[in-house]
Amino acid sequence: MLEDKDRIFTNLYGFQQWNLAAAKKRGDWADTKALLALGPDAIIDAIKASGLRGRGGAGFPTGMKWSFMPKTPSAERPSYLVINADESEPGSCKDREIIRHDPHKLIEGALVAGFAMRASAAYIYIRGEYIREAEVLFAAVAEAYKAKLIGKNACGSGYDFDVFVHRGAGAYICGEETAMIESLEGKKGQPRLKPPFPAGVGLYGNPTTVNNVESIAVAPTILRRGAAWFAGIGRPNNLGTKLFQISGHVNKPCVVEEAMSIPFSELVDTHCGGIRGGRDNLLAVIPGGSSVPLVPAHEIWDAPMDFDGLRDLKSGLGTAAVIVMDKSTDIIRAIARLSYFYKHESCGQCTPCREGTGWMWRVMERLVTGEAEYHEIDLLLEVTTEIEGHTICALGDAAAWPIQGLIRHFRPEIEARIGKRKGFVAGSALVAAE
Ligand SMILES: Cc1cc2nc3c(=O)[nH]c(=O)nc-3n(C[C@H](O)[C@H](O)[C@H](O)COP(=O)(O)O)c2cc1C
Ligand code: SF4
Repeated sequence: MLEDKDRIFTNLYGFQQWNLAAAKKRGDWADTKALLALGPDAIIDAIKASGLRGRGGAGFPTGMKWSFMPKTPSAERPSYLVINADESEPGSCKDREIIRHDPHKLIEGALVAGFAMRASAAYIYIRGEYIREAEVLFAAVAEAYKAKLIGKNACGSGYDFDVFVHRGAGAYICGEETAMIESLEGKKGQPRLKPPFPAGVGLYGNPTTVNNVESIAVAPTILRRGAAWFAGIGRPNNLGTKLFQISGHVNKPCVVEEAMSIPFSELVDTHCGGIRGGRDNLLAVIPGGSSVPLVPAHEIWDAPMDFDGLRDLKSGLGTAAVIVMDKSTDIIRAIARLSYFYKHESCGQCTPCREGTGWMWRVMERLVTGEAEYHEIDLLLEVTTEIEGHTICALGDAAAWPIQGLIRHFRPEIEARIGKRKGFVAGSALVAAE
C-alpha cells in the first residue's frame, strides 16, 4: 500500500484550494527554474530512468516518447506538446480530479515536459463535458501567466512557453491522438493513418507529442524527488504511483492514488469498503476502462493491478478505470451496452469499424434476449477478429475486446440464454449451466 509520504496528488479530493497560492504550499512551482536548468536531455533521461509509462491507456514509455522529438526545432517548424484531457473512456475519471483540484501540477508538468522536448507551446485538449474543470483550468493558466511561470521567459529561465486550453465538443474519438490533432486544427476529429507519426508530422504538420494528463502531471515531482524514488514503487516494468478509479459494485467507489501492482483485493478492500455483498458476490471486473476484456472474479482477486499482471490475464491496465460488477449484473447486457457505445462513437472512416461495430451490437442485443442461434456466438467471435487490428485506429480493437472477453469467460451463460429462449427445460445440459 502506498504511504502518504509517497503521494504525488496531495489535493486529489479538493480538501484544499486549487489555486496558485495553495499549490505552491503543496510544493508545486518550487524553483522550477532549477528543474529546467537540468537541461532537456537530463530531464528526458530522468523520466526514462523513473520507468514512467504513459497513463493514457497504451503504457508507452514516456521518456522514450519525448526523445523522439527533434533536438533542434526551427522557428518555421516549431514543436508542440498536446495534452490529452479528453477522458471519455467509460469508467475513466482521474484526469478530471487532477484538473479540478490540482491544475498547477499539470501546468508545471506542461512546462517541464514541453521544455524537455523543446516544444514552444502546449495545447491542453479538454473534454467538452468538463465544463467546471475547464473553468478551473482556464483560471489556473491565467494565474500562471500572471505570475510569469509560463509565457515569455517562463520562470525566469529564458525559455518562452505558451499554454493553450482547447475545449472539445464531446466525441470519444477525439481522445485518439491523431483525431485530437485534427480536431485542434479545426477539422472533423478523425484519426490519421500512421506513419507518419505525430513526432514527425503532428499538429499543423509540425513535430508533436501527445501525452495523457496524468503522465504530464507527475513529471515535476519525479524530477524533484528523483527517478529512483518513483522507480522504487511497484515492480519492474510497472513502476511508480497510479491513479485508480474504482466504480460499480463496491461499497465506496473512489479515485485513489496507489502503488502500481497493488493486488485487486487490497485495492477494493482498503479503499472501497470491499465488494457489495462481500467477496463471494463478485462476478467480474473490467480492470482498465471499457475497452479492455473483463476478468472473472476468481482470476482477478489476487492479481497485481499493473500492465503485465493484467496482460497475463488477457486484459489490460488501460487507464486503470476499474469497473466492478457483482452477481446482480446481467453481464451480457453490460457488454452489449458497451458495444452500443463503440457503435455510436465510431468515426466511420474504415469499413470494418463502421459496419462491424453496428453489426456486433445488433448480434449482442439478440444475445441479451436469447433470440440468437448457437452458431452466432462463434460467428460473432470470428467477426471481432476481423475487426481487431484491421482499422486505422484502436477504436476497432476497443469494440472487439470486450466481446471477446465475454465469450471467453461467459459462453455457458450466453448458450443458456439462447437455450432458455428456445424452450429447453431445466435439467438439459444448457439450462443447467445457467
Ligand atoms: C478511441 C481512443 C480514445 C482515446 N482516448 C484517450 C483519452 O481520452 N485520454 C488519453 O489520454 N488517451 C486516450 N487515447 C490514447 C491516445 O491515443 C494516446 O495514446 C495517449 O494520449 C498517449 O498518452 P500517454 O503516452 O501519456 O499515455 C485514446 C485512444 C483511442 C484509440
Ligand atoms: S477504427 Fe473506427 S474510429 Fe478508428 S478511424 Fe476507423 S472508423 Fe474511425
